[in-house]
Amino acid sequence: MNTSRRTVIAAGLAAGVAATSAGTARATTGRAPTRTLFGTLDDGTPVHLWTLARGGIRLGVLSYGGIVHRLDVPDRHGRLANIALGFDNLADYVAKSPYFGALIGRYGNRIAAGRFTLDGHTHQLPLNDGANSLHGGTKGFDKQMWHVEPFTHGSRTGITLSRTSPDGEMGYPGTLKVQVTYTLTARGEWRIDYAATTDRATVVNLTNHTYFNLAGEGSGPVSDHTLELAAARYTPVDAGLIPTGELARVSGTPFDFRRTKPIGRDLRQGHQQLLYGKGFDHNWVLDKGITAEPEYALTLAEPRSGRVMRVSTTEPGLQFYSGNFLDGTLVGTSGRTYRQGDALCLETQHFPDSPNHPAFPSTVLRPGATYRTSTVHTFSTR
Ligand code: BGC
Repeated sequence: MNTSRRTVIAAGLAAGVAATSAGTARATTGRAPTRTLFGTLDDGTPVHLWTLARGGIRLGVLSYGGIVHRLDVPDRHGRLANIALGFDNLADYVAKSPYFGALIGRYGNRIAAGRFTLDGHTHQLPLNDGANSLHGGTKGFDKQMWHVEPFTHGSRTGITLSRTSPDGEMGYPGTLKVQVTYTLTARGEWRIDYAATTDRATVVNLTNHTYFNLAGEGSGPVSDHTLELAAARYTPVDAGLIPTGELARVSGTPFDFRRTKPIGRDLRQGHQQLLYGKGFDHNWVLDKGITAEPEYALTLAEPRSGRVMRVSTTEPGLQFYSGNFLDGTLVGTSGRTYRQGDALCLETQHFPDSPNHPAFPSTVLRPGATYRTSTVHTFSTR
């Protein structure tokens, strides 16, 4: 057994995972997700915090926005830290969250001018990001209440979040029935499975917007984190962060993460694309393309703590956003301010603005078909 496996198990003891005398991890049977009251919305709706623990990992999720409120993961000495940015109270999530931990829908990232045409009908979405529509509009899935069902099956434990998005919600056609499952496994994995069906042709692109800092939220910049991204191309953007349509090669640019490198290494290069995004805020075209099962996309690592996160996905794209718009005005879960570059998002997705780019993989969902995507985050230490 290697060291990384051992540290996961040591921390697992604290997070509801038993170790046998032989040193192998065994999930504590019957340990179901727990529910506590987190806060109350202005209209009196209670918002619950669901806590799952398995494989040495602890995940806290809100019934509002499907928000990952915290994600506790062991370092190489087995010490847990919360590696997800968030707030310690509901009011801040409602009033000023830049999508911390949120479930994003119906459409992750931007749609140009908030407009697209499908089967001859043009649909207008709310503009909430300059001239464009971002992350599903002014009241996207991140600001909706979700019905939550817990489950525990053998070595896996999780919750299924569901809601029906009515026809025309945020300008999108079709009644969309959505189910998102967050699962922890005994192997140190956090898995997300998304599913949706519609009664009218529509577009869908769901993702999760967790801001990661593997040294712990509020611990400072992530510039020393190293990233390897299995992508030879990315989608360059215009000044409004809308893809131009080109699939550009990363070779010879700051966008080349095919060999692992610190995030901060090329972040300050005077490259026009980095000026547009105030850093990295781009969609990488994953070499593996769309796959039936999750396949390798990236590895993020933090040298001091030794924490490593590998991401596999069925999706063809990855939005790497280097926390450029965090500006020191938000106070996070443990009372520290979040400043520019204090976290990064790694959003598995279809490409931004796909409804207006027929050459991009399609985001159209039709009645009778089921939208299904999955992403797996695997934690270890080195
Ligand atoms: C986008 C950024 C945006 C951020 C919102 C990211 O997914 O790519 O441009 O500012 O979400 O917090």
